[in-house]
Amino acid sequence: MITGASSGIGRGLTLELARRGAAIGLVARRSELLAEIVTEIEAANGKALALVVDVNDAEALRREADRLRRELGPIDVLIANAGIATVDHAVDLHPAQVANVIKVNVLGAVNSVAAVLPEMVARGEGQLVAISSLSAYRGLPKSAAYCASKAALSSFFECVRIDIQNSGVDVTIIHPGFIKTPLTAGRHSKMPFLMELDEAVKKMIRAIEKRKKTVAFPWQLASIVRLGMVMPNFMYDRIAAKNSFRG
Ligand SMILES: NC(=O)c1ccc[n+]([C@@H]2O[C@H](COP(=O)([O-])OP(=O)(O)OC[C@H]3O[C@@H](n4cnc5c(N)ncnc54)[C@H](OP(=O)(O)O)[C@@H]3O)[C@@H](O)[C@H]2O)c1
Repeated sequence: MITGASSGIGRGLTLELARRGAAIGLVARRSELLAEIVTEIEAANGKALALVVDVNDAEALRREADRLRRELGPIDVLIANAGIATVDHAVDLHPAQVANVIKVNVLGAVNSVAAVLPEMVARGEGQLVAISSLSAYRGLPKSAAYCASKAALSSFFECVRIDIQNSGVDVTIIHPGFIKTPLTAGRHSKMPFLMELDEAVKKMIRAIEKRKKTVAFPWQLASIVRLGMVMPNFMYDRIAAKNSFRG
């Protein structure tokens, strides 16, 4: 089951995993886009089911997960990928906008986990995957809502991993840098080490197959982020302020 399957990374993961033989439940709100992807998969003799649901609706998500289990069998892997990004400056905050980012990026993933985890633990097998971001590690300019949401997302999945160790269910947290998708399209600011979607999808699938606990890429940007984590705050703040990737 992949959330945010209608576009960008979710769409890319869905098509590549279907090509490799996985049966997929595609979660998103835009039914027409999901229908197109399902048609494409079925035309290649694959199996896919469109689950048109908003990740904010915990009950509906649970119902759709039940339907997926009935129609295509047990859910082996959840990829919690649905997410949104905003540009927000601290002195011009719109609380409702920030709440929406937290709601979709964090609580949407919580709802997704709640819809699949009890059944995975009961079966003694499964895998939860979070599509977080390198921006989970430290603050960035004009990114308060997004960075906070991704830090919370990574922390949530890490806590889940601790709670369910030895249950047979693995947790993989993926921290990508910039990837060419509709989410980053139209940004005028320079995005260092911007990756092609296909390349990013392959790296994600490799991490999922190896059941890694966490992965961060591209290595160049991940190394810079790691350096930022051991930098004194006065130095980090100065450098970060000069590198806005939004807008
Ligand atoms: N692109 C990057 O550079 C990058 C880097 C690091 C991490 N990420 C993360 O990767 C994930 C996917 O991003 P993307 O670049 O592929 O963006 P995208 O092309 O804009 O796709 C976002 C997906 O999330 C779905 N979504 C949004 N709100 C939803 C809701 N309330 N309920 C259900 N689905 C919802 C959208 O589907 P509908 O609109 O049809 O519902 C869409 O399928 C996000 O979590 C993002 O933060 C992206």
